[in-house]
Amino acid sequence: MDDHICEAIGRPDLVNLDGGLVCLRFETMKALSALAAVRHLLDTGTVRPGDTLIDSSSGIYAYALALACHRFGLRCHIVGSTTVDHTLRVQLEVLGARLEQMEPSSDLKLDQSRRVRRIREILRDHPDYHWMRQYHDRVHYLGYRTVADTVAERVGGGPLTVVGGVGSGASTGALARYLRERSRDTVLVGVQPFGSVTFGCEHLTDPEIIIAGIGSSIPFGNVDHALYDTLHWVGFRAALAGSVDLLRRHAVFAGLSAGAAYLAARWELRRAPERTVVFVAADTGHRYVDSVFARHREAPDIDSLAPRETADPSRLALPWSRMDWGRAPAPESARWPGDTTPSGTVPVA
Ligand SMILES: Cc1ncc(COP(=O)(O)O)c(C=O)c1O
Repeated sequence: MDDHICEAIGRPDLVNLDGGLVCLRFETMKALSALAAVRHLLDTGTVRPGDTLIDSSSGIYAYALALACHRFGLRCHIVGSTTVDHTLRVQLEVLGARLEQMEPSSDLKLDQSRRVRRIREILRDHPDYHWMRQYHDRVHYLGYRTVADTVAERVGGGPLTVVGGVGSGASTGALARYLRERSRDTVLVGVQPFGSVTFGCEHLTDPEIIIAGIGSSIPFGNVDHALYDTLHWVGFRAALAGSVDLLRRHAVFAGLSAGAAYLAARWELRRAPERTVVFVAADTGHRYVDSVFARHREAPDIDSLAPRETADPSRLALPWSRMDWGRAPAPESARWPGDTTPSGTVPVA
């Protein structure tokens, strides 16, 4: 039996869709990561019950941190972007988490840097608060160890390909790292929206919308570029087609980053049918009912879509591109200048 609902909510399902394609399906992905991070901070005496944890979030990390704080008797302060919706806002309020929501901004970079600036102001007034730094602190890798163990044990013994959206980089980075530690032949495929600086695509923009939770306009310390073998950039409409097809064909109701990962995963399976391809579905489809699923009639048939293959970042193009990354280091614009092992962080190995 679980001691707290966040353990149940955090535990993923593994669903065998067909012929080597497996969905690693979370109700809300970051719950396990936040739980393990907070447990570690308590165990190491970095924080104590009653302390306040603070971070910036566009959605699912806010919920995960609020649940972890509820579990361990800590206070939670979130500086949220406008993507924190009504359902989450109300839950955070009842859970006792404090949410400060920033003014709407169409400029992601401005929104991200404004949130960081606001956190610095709060920390100046409350130096006893602990800043979780989900984008930079490797403590967020820890919770994915049990997920990697589950994948390794439940998915047969052959070669694996893991496909997932890259936001902070913690989920895909940790899964690949822990699976490779177990000597599993693991290829890692990251999925990005156009316009993201993380793997050098800041020169393009998707006219429709960015995909919630993945990509960034600033460098993140938790992205370990040298873990990724391949990258896919998926536009909003192609991701929408993936999400709709995932529901129609396999009855999995998941979000937009899951739809993009599913599209990329099917492509990778077609290229290497001898491998089992596990893709990450980070959240459910509820947040995307109007923006994605209600538009199912305009979704292109995913079998009519194919990525542009290129080795040159300047030739990336909408609606979908694929590039061998070859475990290369971060491009200049995505290099994190800071320390990736601040206090409270453990080495990942
Ligand atoms: C819906 C969704 N998918 C994928 C991700 C990417 O996860 P990570 O931050 O572990 O890279 C996030 C992160 O916020 C997310 O919200």
